[in-house]
Amino acid sequence: MNLKDKRVVLTGAAGGMGKIIARELHKRGAVLALVDANADALGAMVAELDGAHAAPGDLSSAGECKVVAAQCQSLLGGVDLLINLAGINSFAAFEDEPVEKIELMMHVNLLAPMWLSRALLPAMQAQNSGQIVNIGSIFGSIGFAYFTTYSASKFGLRGFSEALRRELADTGIKVTYIAPRAVKTPMNNDAVMRMGEATKMNMDEPDAVVAKIIAAIETDKKDAYFGFPESLFVRINGLLPRLVDGSLAAQNRIARAFAKGEK
Ligand SMILES: NC(=O)c1ccc[n+]([C@@H]2O[C@H](COP(=O)([O-])OP(=O)(O)OC[C@H]3O[C@@H](n4cnc5c(N)ncnc54)[C@H](OP(=O)(O)O)[C@@H]3O)[C@@H](O)[C@H]2O)c1
Repeated sequence: MNLKDKRVVLTGAAGGMGKIIARELHKRGAVLALVDANADALGAMVAELDGAHAAPGDLSSAGECKVVAAQCQSLLGGVDLLINLAGINSFAAFEDEPVEKIELMMHVNLLAPMWLSRALLPAMQAQNSGQIVNIGSIFGSIGFAYFTTYSASKFGLRGFSEALRRELADTGIKVTYIAPRAVKTPMNNDAVMRMGEATKMNMDEPDAVVAKIIAAIETDKKDAYFGFPESLFVRINGLLPRLVDGSLAAQNRIARAFAKGEK
């Protein structure tokens, strides 16, 4: 997609990657509706990016997603590109995860992209053009211990993206699923960072990841998996998951101590 003059809804726009994506889209001449729970941070973004609109909202409910989608449509006069970037993470042993956190994570990471797509799709169908970009994770293809709920939400997002892409294959609407590996943003708390160091987890700089996300959008990629060897492990896990069980066992034992707060 050539981003010039495209009407773009970006969720998670005030986050670590969101701010950088918003600036890159703006540089390319896109007209932006920026969505995030953090209204103050959105205000600062809109002040920085000439012509951008703020649409603050909590995406954890279907009702608010519908309101936010309608607000974005009216601010932009239509939508060409929806980027579902907002997300939350949790690093914990599953037995310690509060049920409310499980529900919230599924709402924000999986259902919000579905609710927003559902709300914006009819107008895209009427104009027979548009693109929906869902930001998943390598953990959406490799179930990762102590990120169990997060992995489940991103597996769901990958399935949603694949099915919707096939459903819309004969239309002018494209669906893209993008899976970064770990990125240095506020999403990863101190325990994740220390566990990442202890297990030698690869972590990318947000600017480099955003450059790849923008390139994937501009070249209409169906999906994109970032980082080597993680992108290879995605394929191996699909074919030989028992092999991956074994190769992650030592890492899981180290991660457990951090997830339980023992390190
Ligand atoms: N960082 C990584 O390691 C990594 C790796 C792979 C994939 N990803 C994916 O990349 C995306 C962006 O992550 P990031 O690293 O930029 O994270 P981030 O810095 O934490 O940004 C996420 C943004 O989403 C917003 N958000 C959270 N809950 C929301 C809600 N209920 N309603 C509206 N907005 C909400 C946050 O607002 P508040 O700050 O106000 O909560 C925040 O601005 C996520 O989907 C994530 O899963 C991240």
